[in-house]
Amino acid sequence: MKQIIAIITLLLGTLSAMAQMSTIPTPPAEGVVNAHGGCIIRVDSLYYWYGENRPYQGFTTEVGVSVYTSRDLQHWQDGGVALSVSEEAGSPIERGCIMERPKVVYCPKTGKYVMLFHLELKGRGYEAAQVGFAESDTPTGPFRFIRALRPNADKWPKDFTKKDIKKALEQRPDDYKDWWTPEWRTAIKKGMFVARDLKGGQMSRDMTVYVDQDGTAYHITSSEDNLTIHINELTPDFLSFTGRYVRVAPGGQNEAPTIFRHNGTYWMICSGCTGWAPNAARLFSAKSIWGPWKQHPNPCRGDGADKTFGGQGTYILTLSPVEAARLEISDSPYPTHIFMADIWNPKHLSHSGHLWVPITFENGMPVLRF
Ligand code: GAL
Repeated sequence: MKQIIAIITLLLGTLSAMAQMSTIPTPPAEGVVNAHGGCIIRVDSLYYWYGENRPYQGFTTEVGVSVYTSRDLQHWQDGGVALSVSEEAGSPIERGCIMERPKVVYCPKTGKYVMLFHLELKGRGYEAAQVGFAESDTPTGPFRFIRALRPNADKWPKDFTKKDIKKALEQRPDDYKDWWTPEWRTAIKKGMFVARDLKGGQMSRDMTVYVDQDGTAYHITSSEDNLTIHINELTPDFLSFTGRYVRVAPGGQNEAPTIFRHNGTYWMICSGCTGWAPNAARLFSAKSIWGPWKQHPNPCRGDGADKTFGGQGTYILTLSPVEAARLEISDSPYPTHIFMADIWNPKHLSHSGHLWVPITFENGMPVLRF
């Protein structure tokens, strides 16, 4: 595991600054992996790191989604732009929109690489709360934009009974002028915002994609005004929603979902909702992706644990024992899981840093030690 830390030191050269959580120095652009809120996949012997290509100043998307490649997770080459913004006025991905948290998965059914990402329409702040879909024949792209929408229009969560639906429909946002009161929280739990957004589809902001062992893919997203995580099943081509979904921790204000499976248990690590500022990580587990999900204490330990060591999670990279041994990262007979996080630099988002922490298990629980 120590070797992983060494790799990251080599990779970015800013680890000690991160450890002290000091302000990240502004390195020249060529020293920067401008791929934030991203993910890593492996195809044959190459790793592909996708992420938000952010401007040095401002926060809208001017370029698109970047891709970098590596053979060893240490040395990265700039692979250019995997998904480009559109120059066409009125396109959902028009330059000046906001593309966040891109996740790429290979779809065996179609033989394509599919990218899902959080999309905000140009000039509309964060109100659109949509998910975008793009597809490519090759991992480096160019990815072709397909559509953007809010998931699950006209669909109730899969575990909602007729009685639950009735209760949700009885909750009226207009009856709650003030948020955060105990009554408002109860109404949120009952599905007030699910009912509010039923027609146009459920809001979708911070997100990840998870492909389960049986090949079914799930889109996991912060919905209901960032109050509740939704786990949405994708169709076999990974390009639409089946309409089956569940809610996790209603009203819990979880963002930045990341997920992995270990020894038959699904583990989800989220952040709280404090914008670019780091906060304490939240841990959940379930025996089935459909839940029930149980919340556990913060999995981080040591200095900076209450602020996720200055980072906000984006992805959990799982390496098989063979891969981890080949990369001299671990000789464990079990898979290695690496929690990837962004150290946001809101003044210069392009130069936000990266933090990778190996996940270890202590008394059967995942632990992140810086
Ligand atoms: C964070 C979120 C980021 C981005 C940012 C904008 O909470 O995780 O993905 O949306 O807010 O302020």
